[in-house]
Amino acid sequence: MGKIRASVPAKAILFGEHFVVYGKRALATAINRRLTVVVSSKAESGYHVKIANIPTFGLQLNLEHEKGGREAYPYKDYDNASKAIAYVKKTIEYLEENYEIGGEGVEIEISSEIPLSAGLGSSAATCVATIAALKEYFGVGTDLEGIRKDAHSVEKAVQGNASPVDTAISTYGGYVLIENAEVKRLELAELDLVIGTIGSIPLSMDITKTAEISLKTKRIVEEVKARRETFSSIFEHIFDAADELTAQALRAIEREDFVKLGALMNVNHGLLDAIGVVPRRLSELVKLSQESGALGAKVTGAGGLDKRGGVGSVLALPGESKDRIKVALEIAGALVMDVKTGETGLKTEKFV
Ligand code: PMV
Repeated sequence: MGKIRASVPAKAILFGEHFVVYGKRALATAINRRLTVVVSSKAESGYHVKIANIPTFGLQLNLEHEKGGREAYPYKDYDNASKAIAYVKKTIEYLEENYEIGGEGVEIEISSEIPLSAGLGSSAATCVATIAALKEYFGVGTDLEGIRKDAHSVEKAVQGNASPVDTAISTYGGYVLIENAEVKRLELAELDLVIGTIGSIPLSMDITKTAEISLKTKRIVEEVKARRETFSSIFEHIFDAADELTAQALRAIEREDFVKLGALMNVNHGLLDAIGVVPRRLSELVKLSQESGALGAKVTGAGGLDKRGGVGSVLALPGESKDRIKVALEIAGALVMDVKTGETGLKTEKFV
């Protein structure tokens, strides 16, 4: 039987993260870092998940399938690790419930260039690529919109509350605008960006803490929800401002007005700080980027939690100051990536 390889891009939210969970507009792009899933057959029955080069997950799990048994997916003694791979587990459960798959030994190998829990869409990428590879392997569908919807359902099941933004970008690539919870694909010019990431997760970190960090988005989204309930009348204005900001940012990109685009990124960052998702280390990276000449800088993705080491990412529109910004972020201890927007979406291929 052939093998299937599916690869998908990472995402960067340019404007509107968090606010999009409540129906506000958000603009996101695919970036040129990819996650790959290879599905092949295995003599031993069950799902064998191998997560190759993500340090934390450098272990092998046997998601043995015992339909009708007391527990459908025993994880043997990998209790905490099972939390960390919640997205993979849920993907398999979801596909088994909704499609005719399974019944034979399958190996699922995941490798990634996307830093984990960094706000760059590693969880959505995992869902989309695993779903695409398994669906193709079992011959139950290759339609992109179907894959996107499946992946979004899985993300919601794990996270509780997830907007369609990450899974849309992983599936379609390019740029997407989320408006009224609908995904709209956009044709926009390529941008050069600098991303600074705090984290990812050191090898020395114990597995319980690691598992908690890997579900960071869920935790932060819950915290925003609680704060929004406490300060409902104030947050209403902040959320409306964020919505208008995304609309103006889109116009700035279309007109190639990068000075305005940068200024809007700075405002967006301020709104994210106001809703409490900017930890100290990410705040420092944004200030350093601005001070080093960036046209604009902001947290991207879920943000971070001080009590979890501030793991997360910032995005800078570098203008003429790319090298200075990169050096400043590196000195501050960030993993620095030069990225391009508009990367191609899901690619699937069969090989032997
Ligand atoms: O940090 P990430 O890549 O998990 O992105 C989260 C983006 C949020 O807007 C905070 C949540 C969502 O579902 O859109």
